[in-house]
Amino acid sequence: MAKIKIDPERKVGELDRRVFGGFIEHLGRCIYGGVFDEGSPLSDERGFRRDVLEAAKGLRMPILRWPGGNFVSGYHWTDGIGPREERPRKTELAWFSEESNRFGTHEFIEYCRTLDVEPYICVNMGTGTMDEAQGWVEYCNGTGDTYWANLRRANGQEEPFNVKYWGLGNEMYGDWQIGALSAEEYVKKAREFAKVMRWTDPSIELIGCGLSGVTDWDRVVVEGLAPFVDYHSVHIYTGSDDHWSNVLAPHAADRALRTVRSMIERARYEQGIEHPIHVAYDEWNVWFRARTAETKLEERYNLSDALAVATYLNVFARHCETVKIANLAQMVNVIAPIFTNKEDLFLQTIYHPLKLCAEHMQEVVLDAHVVCEKHDLTVEESTWPHRVADMGPFDVLDVSATCDGSGRDLTLVVVNRDPDNSVQTTVQLTDAAFDGTVTVHEVTGDDPTATNDFGKERVDASERTVDAGGADFEHTFPACSVTVLRAGLR
Ligand code: AHR
Repeated sequence: MAKIKIDPERKVGELDRRVFGGFIEHLGRCIYGGVFDEGSPLSDERGFRRDVLEAAKGLRMPILRWPGGNFVSGYHWTDGIGPREERPRKTELAWFSEESNRFGTHEFIEYCRTLDVEPYICVNMGTGTMDEAQGWVEYCNGTGDTYWANLRRANGQEEPFNVKYWGLGNEMYGDWQIGALSAEEYVKKAREFAKVMRWTDPSIELIGCGLSGVTDWDRVVVEGLAPFVDYHSVHIYTGSDDHWSNVLAPHAADRALRTVRSMIERARYEQGIEHPIHVAYDEWNVWFRARTAETKLEERYNLSDALAVATYLNVFARHCETVKIANLAQMVNVIAPIFTNKEDLFLQTIYHPLKLCAEHMQEVVLDAHVVCEKHDLTVEESTWPHRVADMGPFDVLDVSATCDGSGRDLTLVVVNRDPDNSVQTTVQLTDAAFDGTVTVHEVTGDDPTATNDFGKERVDASERTVDAGGADFEHTFPACSVTVLRAGLR
């Protein structure tokens, strides 16, 4: 019998809703054919796919990152403004395609307003200049009588867009990146970009380009950019055909967040920096199958991946003091929970835990004490390059607990990573009792490799209520499942 012990007074911190953020990149069919499909009967008059918007709303994203990703390192934003028919069609070297520029800054902001999300723009630090980045901030946020602010007005937008979040380049360390730099070169360049962008609009928040949170690149960038940025970014993708490796690999995020937190604390202490610096985990997901540009990154997800995704969100909740923004990469078609064709869409397996967590995780994170069976990974099983084997053995149940401000509305997200065995569990409350009923939302199935497809959604979420009174509640978590328990307490 496993045990989950919860004391509503043992608060870890506040969960920032921006960890449910998303990301759309000019890559494959994410923008063109996903977000934006001009002339399609499924699109509205602006070219936005209505069915995609509807599905995306279910994910309750508070913030949306754009335009890349690797794409941004060759993107000139001025190509994407003004009359659409006059915009240049260009060779695109991140993903070896052609960019029509029909979806640009105005379309992105309009999309964000429709979805009710905060725009987060990443600037081009590959082929782009400091001047270009400064101009982009001024075009979006400028209120003066200046060339860029007036050009925005001439393009039909009188009021500033007020874009608050700005990323200082994407993955500038990678040799796959147009204009890759060493950490020292990046710091030098990013400081100058940061200065002119912030001088243009002091209210913006800046995100420095981190790696996986555990590398020397991260250390040099945290130290070099601490006076200039509000966030340090982390990107980690994991995944494996081996179920245990797949569902345990997200613990790489545990280590990344611990490590980068200490780098940030040290830099703030050493440099006497008073403003807070948090992590923007601005790319994360399971991604290991469709890795090449030819595949357009159209990863198909299975039940095992749904468990991995829920584990990531639990990790973010447990590290709520460190990670304030996270962006699932990506939103539609490209390594994404929503998958379209010209006539329809279907929801991938990972959509369901994402939706449940965004809907039910609450603002106060509680310390959940878990006593259950453990699983050890061998080093060979452990996913390269984010080895986690040495972090084991791991609890078979991965748990996050959150509640509302009053401590009377509790949510548990419990991932039973065991593919074969259900886990009988007692949820035990300290100085509190269940108030009558618990709502149980469940994503499960008997095959970890089960996938969804058009018209065939094998992996879905179910909902039921069960009776619960007193301080203990017994529940059996099915093998290979994500369960969200929502309970009133007294
Ligand atoms: O999300 C897919 C790609 O992964 C992004 O373009 C890049 O930033 C990362 O390597």
